[in-house]
Amino acid sequence: MKEISLHSANFYRDPFPTFEHLRHTTPVYFDASEDRWVVTRYADVSEVLRNHEVFTANPPYFRFSEIIGVTISNMDGKDHDSRRSIVAPGMIGKNLEHLILPHVQQSSTYLVDRLAGLSDFSVRKMLAKPLPLKTMTKILGLDERDENLLADVTTKILRSLQGDEPHKTIGREAHEEFAKTVYSLIAQKRITPGTDLISGLISSADESGYKLTDEEVCSFVSLLLVAGSETTEIALVNFLHVLLSHPAELKMIREDPTLLNSAFTEFMRRDGVIVYEDRGIAEDYDLNGHILKKGDVVRVALLSANNDESVFKNPRKFDLFRSDLHLDRERRSGGVTEERAGHLGFGLGRHFCIGYMLARAEIVTITALLLNTFDQMSISKKNVDNIEMDWWVWSAKELIIDI
Ligand code: HEM
Repeated sequence: MKEISLHSANFYRDPFPTFEHLRHTTPVYFDASEDRWVVTRYADVSEVLRNHEVFTANPPYFRFSEIIGVTISNMDGKDHDSRRSIVAPGMIGKNLEHLILPHVQQSSTYLVDRLAGLSDFSVRKMLAKPLPLKTMTKILGLDERDENLLADVTTKILRSLQGDEPHKTIGREAHEEFAKTVYSLIAQKRITPGTDLISGLISSADESGYKLTDEEVCSFVSLLLVAGSETTEIALVNFLHVLLSHPAELKMIREDPTLLNSAFTEFMRRDGVIVYEDRGIAEDYDLNGHILKKGDVVRVALLSANNDESVFKNPRKFDLFRSDLHLDRERRSGGVTEERAGHLGFGLGRHFCIGYMLARAEIVTITALLLNTFDQMSISKKNVDNIEMDWWVWSAKELIIDI
């Protein structure tokens, strides 16, 4: 039997053959080196993400909540639904359209304009890192000068996710320091409410009339910083990498820019950034013939599920007209019909990504601007082989584009 390693350099460089092998031989695989189950088939991954009673978002090991306080990302059941009903509406629908999208457009234009006169540029430095930061600064109603503060807090909290010292302490202190800025914003917005996210968060209530405490608002804002910045940054780098590696598809998009939305969906399926999500197991459960024990941890491989050949034919093909994928929009509750399935790049079910529309808007808007501005774009020879996978991201470390 082929030896399985989920931690070798080869796997990190190209995880797809190993994921394929696992899907065919041991779709529910026990990774002894990490002491957790790894689930690779689309159907099994969906089953885990849908069953909120058995699979909890509060696994028994170091948690994010130790750094930024308890947030929806580690809550289960009614508590989660209550808090999510307060925070999620701010990121979709009319709020997204009227309050957020103008910021996305403005930030994207500013960043693309800065490329004028260059012969090449680093996507990560010039576009992907600053875009979510700029957008978030504006959404929170903060000053442009606070961008550096946001960048610093985000990096420190993200590093603390490694779960070791001194990173945990640095992350906790960064959150606490940043909370002072958020507390003063809250105080200000209570007196003069605006159309910013903080004003919305402090005035909204769940069905029973419950409102977030100031501490919960601070924790949620820190969650937004870490959940929405690096993910979007990596997604933009990877998306441009995929587009420029597929000249025929890029030509079609240049001829018909409405295809950019399908391209983004197909990209999220094929190379969608978050490799794994973990869940704790609240009671013994039979998953596809394997008994998972209460207290175990299960790791769902989103990247593998999205490349499951029993759902998506020829999965490594980048196909703008894929007939087995819902190309129009993401669906929180999934959406598998006989012909089509939704991708799992933004998760599924209760914890489905809150920022899925914002992420799409940011990436599609700035890519459309780039294509409009530059007739020629190609991957620079200055790039080195640099796809890197750590415990959760599938990421091109850097991408330099010739223009
Ligand atoms: C391409 C970029 C993004 C990707 C790939 C992504 C991916 C995901 C995934 C897979 C989950 C589910 C986690 C789970 O099941 O445990 C999630 C949750 C979440 N995302 Fe995103 N995300 C992105 C952008 C954003 C943005 C822009 C924001 C907000 C500014 C955001 C905020 C959140 C939050 C708050 C949650 C937790 C939801 C909950 O627990 O109910 N994400 N994201």
